Amino acid sequence: MAYTKIEIRHLSKHYEDFATGSKKAQDIPRKNVIDNLNLKINAREFICVLGHSGCGKSTLLNLIAGYIKPDEGEILINEGKEKVTGPSPNRGVVFQEHALFPWYTVEQNIGFGPKMAHKNKETIQQIVDEYITMIGLEEYRKCYPDQLSGGMKQRVGIARAFANEADILLMDEPFSALDEFTRANMQKELLKIWGRNKATVVFITHSIEEAVLLADRVIVMGEGKVVTDTGIEMPREERELNNPKFMDYVNYFKGYIQDK
Ligand SMILES: Nc1ncnc2c1ncn2[C@@H]1O[C@H](COP(=O)(O)OP(=O)(O)OP(=O)(O)O)[C@@H](O)[C@H]1O
Ligand SMILES: [Mg+2]
Repeated sequence: MAYTKIEIRHLSKHYEDFATGSKKAQDIPRKNVIDNLNLKINAREFICVLGHSGCGKSTLLNLIAGYIKPDEGEILINEGKEKVTGPSPNRGVVFQEHALFPWYTVEQNIGFGPKMAHKNKETIQQIVDEYITMIGLEEYRKCYPDQLSGGMKQRVGIARAFANEADILLMDEPFSALDEFTRANMQKELLKIWGRNKATVVFITHSIEEAVLLADRVIVMGEGKVVTDTGIEMPREERELNNPKFMDYVNYFKGYIQDK
């Protein structure tokens, strides 16, 4: 039996529409950005989320992260044992803009979470060493973020999330600011890290190809709901642009995104 890592139940969220200029609550049009959304994610699954700009992807991620609260519904973690009520180090978040501490070295950035969790010095060093090796930045351990390339910073961001003992990794278009070459490398790196660490990943992207390349399952969102939820039944080593099956998936998702 699959272990349900994240269960999203009847989730709704709206923002006040200040653009109307109306002060009266009853005059404010209430449009749900997330509208009675239901989704189950298994432990160790790699989920990619696609959808038009403004369809609520980041809102969904921020709700799972616990940065914002839903109006209705709930998000449950670990087979319903925990309810998301706020952020937790178990749910690591990686944004498009790597939010590293500029005044800390690579080592200190990765060690920040374990230090906050009051781990002892040796344990912190052990965790830091493990993740620095994993992301291949041993030579840069004493460097500050502004001495690193965009791709390196993004790797530190991922390592930092994992070093926090995150077993859920929430990623909001983490590679979209990178050049194509670095992006392709980062996709491989991420799959490698995920292969070893086996966290549950929710990865938002605008790129259909990236979604088909990375995911076990692709969710397309629209109008605050799940429009389609499709498993990618293809070994990852066969996922290439020149593989017709890969392109079948890409075209299938294009149909959902372009029709709307
Ligand atoms: N803090 C906020 N206050 C008011 N409206 C907001 C707020 N955050 C998001 N919205 C609105 O909610 C909708 C969904 O935004 P969200 O950022 O979740 O979309 P998205 O799918 O991540 O878009 P993108 O692909 O452009 O990143 C948009 O219409 C946006 O304008
Ligand atoms: Mg977004």
